[in-house]
Amino acid sequence: MAPKPKASAMLLPMPIWDLPVRLFHWMLPVLLIVSYVSVKKDMMTLHFLSGYTMAALLIFRIAWGFVGSETARFSHFVKSPLAALRHLTHFFRRGPDTQVGHNEAGGWMVVVLLAVLVVQVATGLCANDDGTTEGPLMKHISKELSDRLSLVHEINFKLLLAIVAGHLAAVIGYAVFRGHDLVRPMVTGRKRLPAATPAPAMVHPLAALVILAVAAAVMFAVARYV
Ligand code: HEM
Repeated sequence: MAPKPKASAMLLPMPIWDLPVRLFHWMLPVLLIVSYVSVKKDMMTLHFLSGYTMAALLIFRIAWGFVGSETARFSHFVKSPLAALRHLTHFFRRGPDTQVGHNEAGGWMVVVLLAVLVVQVATGLCANDDGTTEGPLMKHISKELSDRLSLVHEINFKLLLAIVAGHLAAVIGYAVFRGHDLVRPMVTGRKRLPAATPAPAMVHPLAALVILAVAAAVMFAVARYV
């Protein structure tokens, strides 16, 4: 008879990504596509709506990075750049996926993606198209500065696409070279981990809803009254 595996080595599904992080994540590709298509089709009302939604989600995600579930917190996944490089040196090494939350390199990817997204929405709020379309904050700055920020808005979008392509390549790389499926946990929230792994602390999604409501109110005020 084959020996029984030790209880601590057994794999059990464990929640690692909370619902707010997953919803936030999957809204990003949707909003990216809506933003791109709407600007190409000159549907600027939709473009603005998509931008305000993205901005509210980013405010939420940054706040959630301080008060949210353990794996959502910056303190959990932002490690030293050296640790990130060390992690990348064994990128091609196969082995079981025991990672709870973002790894040392993935953590930096999250920071970079969030930063580039923040630049994208912030410049959009101040942009103009030399015609009838003006971001709600343009009236508070000079036309010259708004023109410069409009250019940043355009260039940063290309940078964002390049970083997203890198992000997708990394996810595929983990699947191909290390045999790690990162996508399923980002969909289901769960990952099969050794039974002895301590479960990360989760914060109730209602707290996320409150933060999101505040973020949405802030963006509504910016769009309407500022
Ligand atoms: C179909 C397209 C996409 C797939 C399959 C995908 C997949 C993933 C996966 C698997 C993770 C978790 C990585 C880990 O385990 O550490 C992740 C995280 C993340 N991805 Fe994506 N991604 C996609 C599109 C995007 C896009 C378009 C953006 C940005 C515009 C984006 C931004 C992020 C961010 C910010 C995180 C960190 C999530 C958080 O902690 O809040 N992703 N993605």
